[in-house]
Amino acid sequence: MIKLAPSMLSADFSRLGEEMRELEQNGIDYAHVDIMDGHFVPNLSMGFPVVTALRKSSSMVLDVHLMISEPIRYVERFCKAGADILTIHVEADTEENNKEALRMIRACGVKPAISVKPKTPAEAVLPYMDLVDLILVMTVEPGFGGQSFMEDMMPKLKTIRGYIDAQNPSCELEVDGGVNLQTAEICKANGANVLVAGSAYFGAEDRVAFASAIRES
Ligand code: DX5
Ligand code: ZN
Repeated sequence: MIKLAPSMLSADFSRLGEEMRELEQNGIDYAHVDIMDGHFVPNLSMGFPVVTALRKSSSMVLDVHLMISEPIRYVERFCKAGADILTIHVEADTEENNKEALRMIRACGVKPAISVKPKTPAEAVLPYMDLVDLILVMTVEPGFGGQSFMEDMMPKLKTIRGYIDAQNPSCELEVDGGVNLQTAEICKANGANVLVAGSAYFGAEDRVAFASAIRES
């Protein structure tokens, strides 16, 4: 089953509650929420109060993507704010601290997840295989919506699909960045089962038709 996770970064920020309720009405799987700290990535986005508000606005699954340095400092607060899935980056801290952060997320009753930036090799996820429910492969440099899909990430995606099938078959495999109807097909062929789409979903003339097309493409 292919899942769609629209990135709220491309939603209308003046109507976030309505956008969330529309996702729910449209039968969308996850709302992807991008958190940026201006340090791990060269951009700022939203923080705890916005996640809390999104949580109150609907019962959508909140897939929160932390693009922040040393996420261990903040994971419990994001869990309390209402994340259902909480992703940290391999590159954001030491292996020891990342593992501890993933355990803290699990202890909060939230699904732990790990992500890799484009320059980080597939093997970097191996130490975390038994600690996560989702692995996120970035198909753009994190920091901004609306960038072009990096097709050269597909061998890495396929390798990680192999790790998942061998070591943690219920783990989900998500792609994020430049995903549209065309590039979604390539991602699925290489093993992704969760597709983040920001500009392509929110910019679609008919979002319901887009959602059904991307799941079937
Ligand atoms: C990039 C974010 C993405 C982004 C995706 O740093 O992690 O989630 O919003 O946007 P599109 O789909 O427009 O590339
Ligand atoms: Zn993201």
